[in-house]
Amino acid sequence: MARLVVNPGFVVGALDRRLFGSFVEHMGRCVYTGIYEPGHPSAAPDGFRQDVLELVRELGVTAVRYPGGNFVSNYQWEDGVGPKEQRPRRLDLAWRAIEPNQFGTDEFVAWSRKAEIEPIWAVNLGTGGIRDAVNLLQYCNLPAGTAPAGTTLADQRAANGSPEPHGIRIWCLGNEMDGPWQIGHKTAEEYARLAEETANAMRRVEPGLELVVCGSSNANMPTFGEWERVVLERTYDLVDHISLHAYYEPRDGDRAGFLAASEEMDRMISSIVATADHVKALKRSDKQLTLSFDEWNVWYQQNFPGELGLDIREVGPLIEDTYTVDDAVVVGSLLITLLRHADRVKIACLAQLVNVIGPIRTEPGGRAWRQSIFHPFALTARYAGPTVLQTVVSGGPTIDTAAFGRIPALWSTATYDERTGELTVFVVNRSENDKIDLEIPVAGDVIRHLALYDEDSSAVNTADDPDRVQPRAVDGTEVVDGICRATLPPASWHLIQLS
Ligand code: AHR
Repeated sequence: MARLVVNPGFVVGALDRRLFGSFVEHMGRCVYTGIYEPGHPSAAPDGFRQDVLELVRELGVTAVRYPGGNFVSNYQWEDGVGPKEQRPRRLDLAWRAIEPNQFGTDEFVAWSRKAEIEPIWAVNLGTGGIRDAVNLLQYCNLPAGTAPAGTTLADQRAANGSPEPHGIRIWCLGNEMDGPWQIGHKTAEEYARLAEETANAMRRVEPGLELVVCGSSNANMPTFGEWERVVLERTYDLVDHISLHAYYEPRDGDRAGFLAASEEMDRMISSIVATADHVKALKRSDKQLTLSFDEWNVWYQQNFPGELGLDIREVGPLIEDTYTVDDAVVVGSLLITLLRHADRVKIACLAQLVNVIGPIRTEPGGRAWRQSIFHPFALTARYAGPTVLQTVVSGGPTIDTAAFGRIPALWSTATYDERTGELTVFVVNRSENDKIDLEIPVAGDVIRHLALYDEDSSAVNTADDPDRVQPRAVDGTEVVDGICRATLPPASWHLIQLS
């Protein structure tokens, strides 16, 4: 028996809705035959697939990072604007594919408006630099027209069909610059100087931007922690967020460890918060830096041959992982971790959105459907209230993990909506084998209990069976004498909404 106590007085922080962000990279079929496919039966004249747009809205995504990823570190944004027939075909060095540049800056902004999301832009600090970043910012955000407002780049945007500024607020200063695989990879000192100067220059164009500086590519990088310290010592006053990236998969068949991935993410966030606060102390600063977890997901990297294992080719399928029930439970648990850190994590992006390790899958010219991981994301985005609360758990089983030792099987968070009085508890049973009988003391009643689990934890959704894995309404969860009682099967994700 586990007891979960939650009280609207125990506040973690306000929920920043940008926690429900995602990521579109020019990689594989994320853009081409993903969000954009002229000639598809559902495509509008602009080439945007309406079937995908509908799923994106249903997913509840609030912000989308673009155009990469590793792709951005050799991307010339000028290639992707202006008349489409004049745009060049270029070799994308990140994924060794021929980029046709039929979808670029203006198309992504137009798509963002239709998808009702806030765009998050990454600039090229690999082969690019300060000038590219500042030119792109001017192209996007300066007003067009006559002097003193008009500049050539803003007027170019207007001539390309967008008279009004795109108004992009959030900018990432490069991507994974600590990674040796990154085109234009840098040492922490080299990157820190470039990020500092780029941030300075961008703020001359528009002081109020939100800037994200690159943290480590993952917590196993040899420079993890030190990279952040060096970069932040240079950029602390100039940026708003530091980025984190992490992908999870079962390693060496260790299912127990995989189900506990939320623990790994939790510790990573705590380490970066500590590092940021260390720099804050060194600087005697009053400013509190926040975090942008702008790439996270389950990714079966063991199946990916690596960039150099790819032949130069036209854009085609790449890392189209098909997600299982277990993967969905883990994605749900990672969302719980992000919510638990709502005081410091202000942006997070499920990587990626469509086809490439995406919650949405498409066939070229054909169907679009929801992968298993779509469901915990959509339900969390839909039902999470504006305030995140602490949950205090006692009792319940523990699990033994190779990486983290003995940890509680139950992993939870809760949100509160003062307006409606609704309390939403998100909880995962991370145990492979043990069910958990859960008690939650509560004043009101059960509004809904939705869950994801299956006898067959490897079940997946496919084009022919798109709803094989989907949330189920749980009967029998009720409040008796002020206690809500629920049973959580092994390896299961739950949303319990209480009045
Ligand atoms: O999302 C796939 C890739 O993973 C991104 O391009 C890169 O930033 C990360 O390593």
